[in-house]
Amino acid sequence: MFADNQALALFPTTVWLHRLEQERAARMNETIRNKLLSMLQPGAETLENTRHQTDKNLHTLPEFQEFAEVLMTAAKGATDFLKIAEEGMEITSCWANINTKGGTTKPHTHPNNYLGGVYYVDTPEGSGSIEFEDPRIQPKLISPRFKGPTAENSGHVTVDVEPGMLLLFPAWLVHSVKPNPSDQMRISISFNLMFSAFTEKVSPVQWKGKVATT
Ligand SMILES: [Fe+2]
Repeated sequence: MFADNQALALFPTTVWLHRLEQERAARMNETIRNKLLSMLQPGAETLENTRHQTDKNLHTLPEFQEFAEVLMTAAKGATDFLKIAEEGMEITSCWANINTKGGTTKPHTHPNNYLGGVYYVDTPEGSGSIEFEDPRIQPKLISPRFKGPTAENSGHVTVDVEPGMLLLFPAWLVHSVKPNPSDQMRISISFNLMFSAFTEKVSPVQWKGKVATT
């Protein structure tokens, strides 16, 4: 009947998923975990329904330099994938989320950045997932029943995660974390990435005027 059939995926939302080599992940995570545990207040791990967050400068600490290198390598992959021509991207914030039993992270975005993401240090039993939401309102106006979930018919996607996994995504993409059901702490590192010379090189209009101003 048809000479050709295609389903064009317009405006896809990309989440980049990287798994570190096992040996590197184990070594790096031990360094990160030890540093974070030394930063916690005494008894913090026994407080239930809590999300401890560090300051936003972890990427400047010596214990996080290897992680920062990994992150920048992944960021280069994402910007190459998108064929971004802008030079120079930097980590603007990097912080740890330490969820005790019952601790959760509500839906949020990472404003004023181009990319956001998260890296996993410890995901105890039952806590190895992250939720993503389609931010578009229009697809939710009509919601028929589906025979099964697909990337095209789901407004909510759960991604399974594990230690050593790094996720990068557009900073505007809404995401959240369910309560940690485990007695063990769930440890992840969140971060933001932005163009270094944004106001200097990206914000100015890209066209040239046709009328001389001098
Ligand atoms: Fe986040």
